[in-house]
Amino acid sequence: MMRMMVALTLAALPFAAQAQDSGQEAWARIFEVASHPRCTNCHVGADGRPAWDNLGYGSDRLHGMNIVAGESRIGAESIPCRTCHISAEGANDRPHAAPQVDDAWRLPPVELAWRGKSSAEICAQMRDPDSNDGLTPEELVDHVRTSVFVAYGFTPGEGRDPAPRTLADLTLDFEIWTAAGMPCAAD
Ligand code: HEC
Ligand code: HEC
Repeated sequence: MMRMMVALTLAALPFAAQAQDSGQEAWARIFEVASHPRCTNCHVGADGRPAWDNLGYGSDRLHGMNIVAGESRIGAESIPCRTCHISAEGANDRPHAAPQVDDAWRLPPVELAWRGKSSAEICAQMRDPDSNDGLTPEELVDHVRTSVFVAYGFTPGEGRDPAPRTLADLTLDFEIWTAAGMPCAAD
């Protein structure tokens, strides 16, 4: 019995190491997407200022017209996002028009801020329920698969660069990463 357990443990080791490797490769691809302006222009910090990076106005650009999302994250304290960002499905085919999705356009909670952060920082945040909107690994995969905001990043419409690869690729990478125990590069 003892010998069998040793054999099993030894056999399991290379597999675990492999899962860790491919988990880290999956994370590297997830980071390429999460650090893309189509995501980071919304995933901003406590000052509540959405960004306009990579839209043709330069690389370190805040939203025009002094837009501030406030604590509500939807601009309730000043100009609501919905004044310009309509909550309805749409092709977003007019360059430089305010993008629309079938949900209330808003910033994520401040704990989900990624703009300007490193791979190690975003990875640590995303696997911690305190800074990933309280999601279990399964719910995280589900969010990526179904969120209209994530989908928008891949189909932002005329004049805006989409996030790299496809939504299906990103969902698969989240499946690989969570199944491998959410490894970060420094682990
Ligand atoms: C219009 C703003 C907006 C854009 C653009 C956006 N998000 Fe989000 N994101 C949100 C909001 C808001 C939440 C919080 C959950 C909710 O209210 O739906 C969120 C939550 C998340 C979460 C779950 C919590 C966490 O941090 O682990 C993930 C993962 C995520 N977004 C990934 C992305 C990715 C990847 C992109 C780009 C391809 C992206 N988002 C683009 C607004 C946005
Ligand atoms: C007065 C109109 C107006 C209001 C109000 C407004 N926006 Fe925008 N927003 C725009 C326009 C126009 C664009 C498109 C800029 C471009 O593509 O050149 C835009 C683009 C964005 C982008 C960039 C999307 C991308 O793909 O990079 C984000 C993020 C954003 N808005 C967030 C917000 C948030 C959050 C609010 C509310 C707090 C808000 N906006 C309120 C007009 C507005």
